[in-house]
Amino acid sequence: MRTFTLGNSADEVIALFPNRTIKEVQLGDQKVCVTRDGKSFFAFERLCPHRLANLREGQLNEFQEVICPLHHYRFELNSGRVKAGDCRDLKVYKAELQESGLKISI
Ligand code: FES
Repeated sequence: MRTFTLGNSADEVIALFPNRTIKEVQLGDQKVCVTRDGKSFFAFERLCPHRLANLREGQLNEFQEVICPLHHYRFELNSGRVKAGDCRDLKVYKAELQESGLKISI
């Protein structure tokens, strides 16, 4: 497992990620999606486990679930559990906001 740091401060990271927008970030040789709900950050695999739609185009709902843009399956971002749909769970990664930036372990 490797840990990456985004930004140089918590404030900078919050400014980089407007609330509930999903962005794709490059961490080493891997691209992952990152989003936040308030000060809770989430990192998760970029491609939907169902048919590989890019979840960057998805939406975050008020239950901290990401909704896939293609067939609207829903995945809980704390656990990755599929909540609506029939496929494996989403891979999620530890994302923690600290004063020095956002730490993501993949
Ligand atoms: S590709 Fe995501 S729900 Fe089908």
